[in-house]
Amino acid sequence: MKITVAGAGNVGLVTAVGFAEAGHQVTCLDTQKEKIEILEKGHTPFFEPGLEPLLEKNLSNGQLCFTTNPNQAYSDADIIFIAVGTPEKRDGAVDLSYIYAAAYTIANTIKKDVIVCTKSTVPVGTNDIIKQIFLQRKPRHLKVDVVANPEFLREGSAITDFFLGDRIVIGADNHEAASIMEQLYLPLKIPIVVTDIRSAEMIKYASNAFLATKISFINEIANLCERVGANIEEVSYGMGMDKRIGTSNLQAGIGYGGSCFPKDTKALVQLAGNVHHPFKLLESVIKVNQHQHSLPVLKVKEMFGSLKGKKAALLGLAFKPETDDIREAVSLTIIKELLEEGSIVTAFDPIAIPNAYKLLGNSIEYTTSIRQALKGADFAVIATEWDQIKHLPLDTYVAYMNEPIVFDGRNCYSLKDMGRYPITYVSIGRPTVTNLKPAQRL
Ligand code: UDX
Repeated sequence: MKITVAGAGNVGLVTAVGFAEAGHQVTCLDTQKEKIEILEKGHTPFFEPGLEPLLEKNLSNGQLCFTTNPNQAYSDADIIFIAVGTPEKRDGAVDLSYIYAAAYTIANTIKKDVIVCTKSTVPVGTNDIIKQIFLQRKPRHLKVDVVANPEFLREGSAITDFFLGDRIVIGADNHEAASIMEQLYLPLKIPIVVTDIRSAEMIKYASNAFLATKISFINEIANLCERVGANIEEVSYGMGMDKRIGTSNLQAGIGYGGSCFPKDTKALVQLAGNVHHPFKLLESVIKVNQHQHSLPVLKVKEMFGSLKGKKAALLGLAFKPETDDIREAVSLTIIKELLEEGSIVTAFDPIAIPNAYKLLGNSIEYTTSIRQALKGADFAVIATEWDQIKHLPLDTYVAYMNEPIVFDGRNCYSLKDMGRYPITYVSIGRPTVTNLKPAQRL
């Protein structure tokens, strides 16, 4: 089929490359000329493991092309995916202006019957508005079916999630459109859920809200564990063995970040408010998450009192490992608070520094070397569980830091391993390990 994807962001580009790899003729449109120029050279404008080789392959074999020209993108497409950004507005509502702009452009450009799929995460009811736009603006003789087709890709594993996802969700209001979409996805051999449009829109929000709820739940249990002397790792393990609970999204830490959970949870709370049904549970999930973000500096201040002039090593800028995305990263909250306390911050990250620098400029130091970050530091805060951090020989903290004091927001190390080094190790939901020799005890 001839497929067009509107939007070459984290979702759109993976969708375009994925369908090209599956053998379809794909055109990917973006309004940002410089982004298209990078893509036409076979490079990805953001880091996503495994994406660039697939992009290069499908560019060179002609399965995939890029353009800023709507006519070239839309006029001959069989299926058009709208995968443009839906950023959060100041009041927590979703900015749908890019979605509607894409719909208007498509309506003014199509030359044949087409299926328009909303891949972006949109509030329940949005696709009905998109349908209205086409009813009013499309050429009278053409048929346009609007379908909700939300994605469930995780950054850092998006290629795997595209080809090996748990389910495809198709929301349609007529069987013909639904069956065309099923034909498109069948070769991926992933279970397909066909439902109505509003239920499909809700499945996306409800799924992300539930995953965020699981994370805030285990974080609250971790906070209780610290107060009753239990160990969250043991608790999470024992809980996860219950198949009804499962082990995923039960990793306690300093909370979730990224471009989805924070935005989607707020959007769902907003949606609930709009229909006069306050979503109290989700409001608490958001509050718990905000509290988790502030735990690292709270714990540092408990130990040091004033942080003025203290050298802080911040390990991890990206919101999670295997991405250079820093949107809503917990590291940004930690840096803001440390700078407010007068600390001097050096941040390590293997790939997210360019994105962080755009936001933070010279307010902190940056390095791609953990040792460089630790050198002379009075304390270290781990914000992202990069493998380079998890596999760091623990004596590095002793050898490089002024004081081997580590606040681990992602529970990267076992207490047993830490117990073998003269390091003060504070983590989440577990006892603090202080094994300084008696003479060294303060
Ligand atoms: C999420 C959803 O997983 C995905 O299905 C949806 O399409 C987009 O949003 P993403 O935000 O890319 O994906 O990453 P994810 O791996 O879900 O992590 C989100 C945040 O939760 C990260 O900040 C991560 O550190 C945190 N997290 C995740 C935890 O704190 N604990 C966990 O157990 C899992």
